[in-house]
Amino acid sequence: MTATIPSQAVCKPVTRHAIFLVASLASVEDAASTVRAVCSDISGLVRAIGQRDPQASLSCICGFGYHAWDRLFGQPFPAELHPFQSMGPPERNAPSTPGDIFFHIRAEQMDICFEMAMQLLGKLGKSVQVEDEVHGFRYFDSRSIVGFVDGTENPSGDEIPPYTIVGDEDPQFAGGSYAITQKYLHDMDAWNALTVEMQEKIIGRKKLSDIELDEDEKPSWAHNSLTVIEHNGKEKKILRDNMPFGKPGSGEFGTYFIGYSRTPSVTEEMLKNMFVGNPEGNYDRLLDYSRAVTGNLFFIPSVNTLED
Ligand code: HEM
Repeated sequence: MTATIPSQAVCKPVTRHAIFLVASLASVEDAASTVRAVCSDISGLVRAIGQRDPQASLSCICGFGYHAWDRLFGQPFPAELHPFQSMGPPERNAPSTPGDIFFHIRAEQMDICFEMAMQLLGKLGKSVQVEDEVHGFRYFDSRSIVGFVDGTENPSGDEIPPYTIVGDEDPQFAGGSYAITQKYLHDMDAWNALTVEMQEKIIGRKKLSDIELDEDEKPSWAHNSLTVIEHNGKEKKILRDNMPFGKPGSGEFGTYFIGYSRTPSVTEEMLKNMFVGNPEGNYDRLLDYSRAVTGNLFFIPSVNTLED
């Protein structure tokens, strides 16, 4: 029975702070063995650091990309692990960027996230090269930097595992999950120059109340028209743990998108609708104000597979 295989902290609720780390496996000789040793003992690090303030609810999810899987673990591969596919025309491209190892560190306090990242990278040493590091925060009532509540239509409670955790379809990797991550930068001057009514059409919800627009008010290119996926009348959901980040002094305002799913194909279909359009050309207008600058796909092994 796959339901009893413990998964990493994928289904845990979104916290006030997070650090997203994407790294490449270095070419030094013992890189793979160091990464295996550190990653198999992540739960020990989480216990030690988390114990210093149990109310901070520290967790750390660890995932691996296609290009590093063979060097780290050899055969077999998780059934749907492949490199992130770049998509969309040049003016709104979703790039595929380097990244072999992923850490999603979450806690109610930034000091606890920071300590976890520092200890983890200290142990990994020269075996990895950090490609991207983002420190995310909760913004008021879970708003994205563009001012709308983000995460409302996420699955909740018992609904989460069937959408996010691999089951009998890939028995060797049951209990695992797939994560697609993208770092977006927003043109806030252009976004703020729009009327609130136009912003609401782009997102498909009311800005202040977070209530969904009626079907006859919602354009076919609204974000929530293009990201709702139905197969044979059944909705296919993903779990999004997006976080705002930024540096006002440098004019940087961003959203770190992360979507956990049982199969990456659902998130990929959403991305295709957003970037290419559905039908082609009917693309997500949020992308006129938001640029994806990274793109990665990772497999998140179950706790047992990670510790082995
Ligand atoms: C610029 C980056 C993004 C921003 C600022 C953003 C923001 C939002 C907001 C404000 C909502 C409405 C509230 C909610 O239901 O959560 C939403 C909904 C949603 N977004 Fe995004 N999003 C971004 C990227 C993405 C990407 C890349 C995907 C998928 C590949 C995605 C998938 C979804 C889904 C599935 C929903 C719920 C649709 C529904 O069931 O009504 N989003 N997003």
